[in-house]
Amino acid sequence: MKHNETFSKDLLAWFYQHKREMPWRETKDPYKIWLSEVMLQQTQVNTVRNYYLRFIDRFPDIETLAQSSIDEVAKYWEGLGYYSRVRNFHAAIREVQSAYNGQVPKDPSTFLSLKGVGPYTQGAVMSIAFNHKLPAVDGNVYRVFSRLDNDGFDISSTKARKHFEAKVMAVMPDAAGDFNEALMELGATVCTPKAPLCIVCPVREHCMAFEQGNVLDLPVKLKKVKKTVQQYKVLLIQKDDQIIIEQRPETGLLASMWQFPMFEIDTHVSDIEAQMNLSLHIEDEPFVKTKHQFTHLEWQMEVYLAYTNSEVVLPYKLIEIKDKGTFNFPVSMTNIFDKYVDYIQ
Ligand code: ADE
Repeated sequence: MKHNETFSKDLLAWFYQHKREMPWRETKDPYKIWLSEVMLQQTQVNTVRNYYLRFIDRFPDIETLAQSSIDEVAKYWEGLGYYSRVRNFHAAIREVQSAYNGQVPKDPSTFLSLKGVGPYTQGAVMSIAFNHKLPAVDGNVYRVFSRLDNDGFDISSTKARKHFEAKVMAVMPDAAGDFNEALMELGATVCTPKAPLCIVCPVREHCMAFEQGNVLDLPVKLKKVKKTVQQYKVLLIQKDDQIIIEQRPETGLLASMWQFPMFEIDTHVSDIEAQMNLSLHIEDEPFVKTKHQFTHLEWQMEVYLAYTNSEVVLPYKLIEIKDKGTFNFPVSMTNIFDKYVDYIQ
């Protein structure tokens, strides 16, 4: 970067004047800052805002959260995705309550040892809440520093984090938390991926990619994430006015969440009947076809209406449509549920 001795001053001056209002920026409570950082991983600020406020309203402190069941806590996460994050956060908060007297550890390596806390969360929470001088390198920071230094380092490489952390630390001022947030804010609002607003950039004078006309070629990402595609038959099985759901396994993708029974796409009706221990009438044509994207996975789902008169036994469960709010459904299933409710009304 150019003129590195004035970089942090220029960035911070801009941040203090232009930073967006966010509810977690009104507090120094490490619990709330931590919650916000967990929610903000992979989810946009505008979506997080309401989830955060609702969550804090119900679980205002560590003690309340530690005493609540994971099923209730997960309800407050429904729709945010990446549900393992809330399970890890809840487990970590219980550990803070039992092992650290209900106080978020101030020591960075102790904090890092908690469930779900990686180097990004460690740096963000420790710097924002306690002003520890630690980097908090996320995708925004990769992009901003690739451009500032006109640096084609491959951000999909396993060495990228260390590479960019060193760049952040080389210009880290005393106001570490503000600086980390300012970098994120710059990446989110000015130094954006496709249409950066270089014309209003507060650190354009420092930017070597801007000088070289390279901004849109950076950052460099060599590895394309190739998504695995999984195809499923999803069954909306009605019995009288009720519908069948099942609970997913306790570990893995969407752990313990509820869904409509789903089977690999080419599973035969007779195999489904045997597996579910009931007799079924399944309609010939799909009711709807839909997709859902995870980070490394795509679900392609053909949703069929089906009917049964058989008795329904665990792990399957018959529920009334009006009770759907009682169960944790992932977004993929809520979308199907909404289409179904539209259809029957
Ligand atoms: N993204 C992740 N953490 C953030 C924060 N504290 N402020 C703004 N955007 C963020």
